[in-house]
Amino acid sequence: MKRCLAVVAGIVLLGAGSALAAVGGGDITLKNTGGDVIFSHETHVEGMAQACTECHAELYTSAKQHKTVSMKQMGKGKSCGACHDGKKAFSIKGDCAKCHTK
Ligand code: HEC
Ligand code: HEC
Ligand code: HEC
Repeated sequence: MKRCLAVVAGIVLLGAGSALAAVGGGDITLKNTGGDVIFSHETHVEGMAQACTECHAELYTSAKQHKTVSMKQMGKGKSCGACHDGKKAFSIKGDCAKCHTK
């Protein structure tokens, strides 16, 4: 628990240093063969009132340390698939264009 809090504190500091106006990590572009995906901290954190700890540091650490996952792995609950399962949020099995904007 202590270690987990330290990581989150580090992420908060990082965020404050890099983009003052952005919420958390701001907009993150994930490049992949299915078309760029823009992950918005603003909609996930402000609009949905989700705590930083829902995603950090278990699902994600930082964009630099990003571990690429496949759609298949997301179907098993990794990355976006932890919530985008058709229950907590719209499923990764449809609505491709909601995430893949290009
Ligand atoms: C719904 C999930 C989710 C929530 C909630 C969330 N984040 Fe993130 N965050 C991400 C993702 C996805 C990335 C990209 C990391 C990756 O691709 O591995 C990220 C990356 C970051 C980064 C690194 C940005 C960079 O350019 O390296 C910072 C800083 C950050 N988040 C801060 C926060 C803070 C502060 C909060 C709470 C206010 C928060 N995040 C809440 C999903 C989330
Ligand atoms: C909730 C958002 C989301 C939805 C919905 C979604 N994707 Fe993805 N997809 C992503 C993200 C994010 C990545 C990049 C993952 C990474 O970098 O770790 C990705 C990666 C991919 C990739 C490259 C990796 C692989 O598995 O081959 C393909 C192809 C892809 N998506 C196709 C699709 C198709 C087709 C659909 C609709 C059936 C879809 N995606 C729906 C977020 C989504
Ligand atoms: C902690 C849970 C959680 C994680 C992890 C998560 N999301 Fe979401 N996301 C939600 C919820 C809840 C909604 C709102 C409900 C809905 O739209 O079905 C949402 C909505 C969205 C929307 C629509 C927002 C809008 O502006 O209309 C997009 C796009 C999206 N997520 C992309 C992603 C991508 C890409 C990832 C992975 C990098 C991701 N999400 C990871 C919970 C999550």
